[in-house]
Amino acid sequence: ADPPPALRIEDYRHRARRRLDARVWDFVQGGAGSERTLRANRRAFARVTLRPRVLVDVAACDTGTELLGARLATPVGVAPTAYHRLLHPDGEVATALGAGAAGALYVVSVFASRTLEEIAAEATGPLWLQLYWLRRREILAGLVERAAAAGYRALVLTLDAPQLGRRHRDARNGFAIPSGISAVNLDAALMASAHRSDAGRSALAVHTAEAVDPSVTWADLAWLRGRSELPLVLKGVLTAEDAVLAVEHGADAIVVSNHGGRQLDGAPASLDALAEVVDAVGAAGCPVLFDGGVRSGTDAFAALALGARAVLLGRPVLWGLAADGAAGVAGVLGLATEELAHTMALTGRPALPAVDRSAVARGAAAGT
Ligand code: FNR
Repeated sequence: ADPPPALRIEDYRHRARRRLDARVWDFVQGGAGSERTLRANRRAFARVTLRPRVLVDVAACDTGTELLGARLATPVGVAPTAYHRLLHPDGEVATALGAGAAGALYVVSVFASRTLEEIAAEATGPLWLQLYWLRRREILAGLVERAAAAGYRALVLTLDAPQLGRRHRDARNGFAIPSGISAVNLDAALMASAHRSDAGRSALAVHTAEAVDPSVTWADLAWLRGRSELPLVLKGVLTAEDAVLAVEHGADAIVVSNHGGRQLDGAPASLDALAEVVDAVGAAGCPVLFDGGVRSGTDAFAALALGARAVLLGRPVLWGLAADGAAGVAGVLGLATEELAHTMALTGRPALPAVDRSAVARGAAAGT
């Protein structure tokens, strides 16, 4: 018999957990250090209450938006996450099909386990490519060229991982990427250490130290800019100071993110950093995206009200993918979008520009 339809995103989490190997589950769910930032991401949403307005015509609620020139049916998109073949045999191709079905943006990770071209061939919605700054710049330059040729519409440079976070679950599990799955867009030689399992340490931490250049600074961004006409999005900004620098260095958009609590343990909850960044960017007109802890359309609404132009889902998309492939990804994004539209109706905000700070109040934990 078919399982009952998922009523909430959490339902996909339960289904994914039943299907996944415990070490893969830990890799997906885990955070850095004491996982205090991971927990804070969720708790921050419990402090937001919604301020409903009544007697507004909400017969039609429009979740449509535009981002860097692309029309999107929903402001809820897919955050970049590595190695989707750990979760489903079709990997990122299934994710792209699910995102397209939901009318959502998909940010593909540089550690995708399908080629950029395979993903683009099946995608029906806009794709952006996420990059880490690799030590070998010629590989980075090659990826940027391939992305443009395959129709990717923006580059997303992740800034919060000069070293990998200290993820104790992965270290304890001696987690490594199984040999049948790889980051196929990178040299096989460059990937060797990601596959070497050693008791007591994470192969991904070793691999990041080998592959990612931790010496990069703001001044280096010009090199990347000079290699591509594509808009450049900077991911992993959490302070007003860096938001100002991002705008000064010509960022086309910013993603407020603490990497889902997987990098700096002790960093603020993403939601708590959002208003600071939005205010710092101010009139510059640089769109601010958000990720970290979004588990419902109500959460998405809160982030949009605090100034995000779009909201990305990390782990929930992986749960959908593990539970039911492309249909699961579409299901997760569809649920978030339906709940968002419902919240817009019940708060009297029938279009996204009306989802502003007047729609939320922040205070003591309101319960979830
Ligand atoms: C990530 N994230 C991530 N970010 C990035 O820029 N490049 C990457 O390759 C990855 N890989 C990755 C793998 C896994 C398993 C997770 C859970 C996360 C971080 C991701 O883009 C995003 O910032 C967070 O996942 C958002 O938080 P939630 O939605 O997972 O709470």
